Amino acid sequence: MTLLWCRAALAATAVLPVASSIQLNLDDEASIRNVTATYAYGMMTYYSNNQTNTPDDKIGNLPAPYYWWESGAMWGGLIDYWAYTNDTSHVNTTRQALVANFGPNADLVVPAQRWDEACFAGNDDQAFWALALMSALEYQFPNPSDSDPQYLEVAKAAFDTMAARWDLTSCNGGLKWQIFPENSYGYDYKNSISNGGFFALAARLARYTGNQTYVDWASKTWDWCQEIGLISDKFEIFDGSDDTLNCSRINHMQWSYGVGIFLHGAATLYNYTNGSSIWEKRTSGLLERSAVFFSPFDNATNIMYEPACETVSTCNTDQQSFKAYLGRFLAKTAILAPYTASSINTFLRASAAGAAKSCSGGRDGVTCGSKWYTGNWDGTNGVGQQLSALEVTQALLATKAGNPGTQADVHIAKPAATTTINLPARPTTTETHPPNDAAAMSTSGKMVLVSVALMAVLSGLRLW
Ligand SMILES: *[C@@H]1O[C@H](CO)[C@@H](O)[C@H](O)[C@H]1NC(C)=O
Ligand SMILES: *[C@@H]1O[C@H](CO)[C@@H](O)[C@H](O)[C@H]1NC(C)=O
Ligand SMILES: *[C@@H]1O[C@H](CO)[C@@H](O)[C@H](O)[C@H]1NC(C)=O
Ligand SMILES: *[C@@H]1O[C@H](CO)[C@@H](O)[C@H](O)[C@H]1NC(C)=O
Ligand SMILES: *[C@@H]1O[C@H](CO)[C@@H](O)[C@H](O)[C@H]1NC(C)=O
Ligand SMILES: *[C@@H]1O[C@H](CO)[C@@H](O)[C@H](O)[C@H]1NC(C)=O
Ligand SMILES: *[C@@H]1O[C@H](CO)[C@@H](O)[C@H](O)[C@H]1NC(C)=O
Ligand SMILES: *[C@@H]1O[C@H](CO)[C@@H](O)[C@H](O)[C@H]1NC(C)=O
Ligand SMILES: *[C@@H]1O[C@H](CO)[C@@H](O)[C@H](O)[C@H]1NC(C)=O
Repeated sequence: MTLLWCRAALAATAVLPVASSIQLNLDDEASIRNVTATYAYGMMTYYSNNQTNTPDDKIGNLPAPYYWWESGAMWGGLIDYWAYTNDTSHVNTTRQALVANFGPNADLVVPAQRWDEACFAGNDDQAFWALALMSALEYQFPNPSDSDPQYLEVAKAAFDTMAARWDLTSCNGGLKWQIFPENSYGYDYKNSISNGGFFALAARLARYTGNQTYVDWASKTWDWCQEIGLISDKFEIFDGSDDTLNCSRINHMQWSYGVGIFLHGAATLYNYTNGSSIWEKRTSGLLERSAVFFSPFDNATNIMYEPACETVSTCNTDQQSFKAYLGRFLAKTAILAPYTASSINTFLRASAAGAAKSCSGGRDGVTCGSKWYTGNWDGTNGVGQQLSALEVTQALLATKAGNPGTQADVHIAKPAATTTINLPARPTTTETHPPNDAAAMSTSGKMVLVSVALMAVLSGLRLW
């Protein structure tokens, strides 16, 4: 956030009729819907790759500094947004974005992404797009046109490519972070978000299709993560491990989305197995452990935060979005494992209330910041901030969409949803967004994370 932008924002506030700040009434469904519409609208002002002159390989992608994975994560959030609210405002844009990223083999391996700004295409990136397709399937999001590949075949194909990458050359298995050996950043790292993404995808495909192969892979992936120590006895989810050391050392960083992605996968299998005790124990253990991502201070009980970076203001662009996924996966867990619903609801309500107070910045007066515990906008803005506020708030409406469906439900036609939530007129949003400082400073959050990990390994520091 530059001083210049702050001045411009203040000046604008003085002259423009600013929309009132976010007024969120947690007990009023219409209010929640209204607020989520505002967050989603603000988020979409960052997206412009849906113009008639947009090159095909850019459709569906957010501009720099956002990586490909975060676009997939955003579309996943917007599918849920539609399912939870019936607001169709972003449906066409979302469907176009998904189809444009299926890739030449319809498996979410997209060549254009192989050499994007930082040469990243990870198993985790592919997983986030595949999980978006699972939401599309579970809620019967409008299908691609008949001539395009369909969501299920693409999600299955993505799974198959990941299963084929299960790597026995070190650590007795597991997925590497990166897909391509050319990506020296992270190719030697076996991490929890890649394996957790694969685990959650397998769990959701199991429940959706009823095919035992997916249950087997989910169990195998869970067991491997435990064996290596990425999942601890206390259900902590640690960031990753160096496979050149045969995963003998663990990077003990913990991130909110890590526990979230495993929690939702475990709850899915709990549900699919009609409440088996093994998956109940795992679901409960992860949920209990997720409490470390809440209540940063005595004055912020049950408000979500990112302990590894938020209070010290070092979250990078990727990390600014992580709370979105913990919010998303908690909501889905509450539906699949109803015994968790009341404690999850307590977390979500406090966090949504905190987020609403943080969404009081920028020229429009409703730009979201990242620190929900301060009672105010913290001066940051971005897709991650908008998406996090959106997901933690729409999570309160998740039950409105009914139970996530399975393949057996497909013949039951979903009634056409036609509502569009009309927002009051707001100042035009043609201003270009200021670069996110954190992102501008580090060309790649992922790169920084790995170099910290590697440095610590190489120097033998007892950081973890
Ligand atoms: C939606 O928000 C606007 C202000 O942003 C307000 O004028 C309107 O009354 C709200 N509607 C509901 C149903 O809360
Ligand atoms: C592109 O997406 C934005 C955000 O959803 C939307 O407002 C706009 O109408 C879309 N433009 C086209 C040409 O589809
Ligand atoms: C989406 O596209 C369809 C067909 O192209 C069109 O009829 C519909 O009005 C569009 N919906 C929105 C909300 O833009
Ligand atoms: C590598 O780690 C795996 C998993 O912990 C273990 O089973 C295997 O024996 C180890 N291999 C070597 C050569 O240490
Ligand atoms: C189950 O899924 C696996 C992995 O995609 C596939 O190879 C197998 O054919 C599927 N089985 C059935 C009965 O569809
Ligand atoms: C779960 O219950 C359903 C309905 O009773 C049954 O069809 C299914 O086989 C059960 N699944 C398992 C894994 O026990
Ligand atoms: C499975 O999820 C459904 C909602 O989709 C819920 O009604 C049911 O109670 C869940 N099963 C168990 C064992 O909790
Ligand atoms: C709560 O306390 C923290 C730490 O002192 C502070 O940064 C934050 O602004 C406080 N929040 C509120 C709502 O006062
Ligand atoms: C969406 O609209 C359909 C058809 O009117 C309705 O059955 C469904 O309950 C609505 N869903 C939500 C989340 O409001």
